[in-house]
Amino acid sequence: MTDIVIVGAGGCAREVYEMVFDTFPQEEYRVKGFLSDQPGDLDPFPELKEKAPIVGTIQGYEPAAGDRFLLGLGNPEDRRAVARKMKERGAKFLSLVHPKAQVFPTAKLGQGIILYPFSLVSSYVELGDFCMLNAYAGVGHDGKVGDYTVLAPYATVLGFAQTGECCFLSTHSMLAPKKKLGKEGIVAANSSALRDAPEAAFVCGVPGKNM
Ligand SMILES: CC(C)(COP(=O)(O)OP(=O)(O)OC[C@H]1O[C@@H](n2cnc3c(N)ncnc32)[C@H](O)[C@@H]1OP(=O)(O)O)[C@@H](O)C(=O)NCCC(=O)NCCS
Repeated sequence: MTDIVIVGAGGCAREVYEMVFDTFPQEEYRVKGFLSDQPGDLDPFPELKEKAPIVGTIQGYEPAAGDRFLLGLGNPEDRRAVARKMKERGAKFLSLVHPKAQVFPTAKLGQGIILYPFSLVSSYVELGDFCMLNAYAGVGHDGKVGDYTVLAPYATVLGFAQTGECCFLSTHSMLAPKKKLGKEGIVAANSSALRDAPEAAFVCGVPGKNM
């Protein structure tokens, strides 16, 4: 039996918890619990807390041999910092590809990825390590998404477009075909990045301006 430990205990982590049961066979995987540095995170959810308690802190948890981790953190910088620290402690990560996510056979996926239901990873797409695509987020053919990058619900990276590592595409945003969003770039909600944007850009509006 593999023990799944979900890193984080906020809203994103609770979504990951529920998706685990659709994704992993219960004869082989069970959820050990959550990691959080805020011990009260699950207090509003007593039934959940009983089934899957907080078993340690993100800062201090020492992985056991049978533990496999899923990152339940929605912020790319948190994903990067925590994945790096936990890997130093020997943590081994799983990817969660929800059965209702659509992944084309030619797509390449890194490690530690979370794909929500109805996300789309199209032909010859490359997703870096620890990316997360929320519901209805999509990457068009030949798109590349850098490590730790998060696509919020309905965000779209179009054909041949590329994001650097640790980017955040807010809900209903888009990166236009063949355009590049530099490392740590953000595209705000409902905004369209129609041009290349540099490292740490903050692109807002339609057409998107780097503010
Ligand atoms: C990108 C985002 C997170 C930035 O939030 P923030 O750091 O708090 O930034 P602010 O809201 O203070 O905005 C900074 C400036 O950008 C402007 N701005 C922010 N979002 C904008 C948008 N979508 N379109 C146009 N302008 C926008 C603000 O008006 C503000 O301008 P001002 O300084 O002249 O007032 C936020 O704009 C956003 O898109 N939120 C949605 C997040 C999301 O998709 N979450 C899904 C989780 S699953």
